[in-house]
Amino acid sequence: MKTKNLKLKFMSAVGVALFLGVVIFASSCVESQKVAMKSGPQLWAENCQRCHNIPSPTAFSADQWETIGLHMQSRALLTEKEKNKIVSFLQSVNQ
Ligand code: HEC
Repeated sequence: MKTKNLKLKFMSAVGVALFLGVVIFASSCVESQKVAMKSGPQLWAENCQRCHNIPSPTAFSADQWETIGLHMQSRALLTEKEKNKIVSFLQSVNQ
């Protein structure tokens, strides 16, 4: 009887762990999808005002945004994709 109980407890613990694993895995997928879905303007608004006033898209030329994007990518710890989205947004407003 005792061992049966232990077995049951063990099985339900495994069940809970599996369930939590699935939930955590699913939510991390949703999270990374969210980041991937963010638009240039959104990323710009969220990241480019953390350290200074948000720079106006018209303040610099398309070429200048290219260079600034590279500098700020390393400062803001942005991925290549995020940086490209922000830079193309800033350039599209400019031209
Ligand atoms: C971690 C802090 C930090 C974040 C985040 C950040 N910047 Fe900066 N930024 C700085 C600092 C510090 C300077 C001034 C020194 C320099 O020019 O490198 C600066 C300067 C600038 C300048 C002025 C450059 C010049 O030549 O006058 C622009 C434009 C700029 N940032 C744009 C951006 C954009 C766009 C983003 C978002 C992708 C961003 N920054 C995110 C720290 C940051």
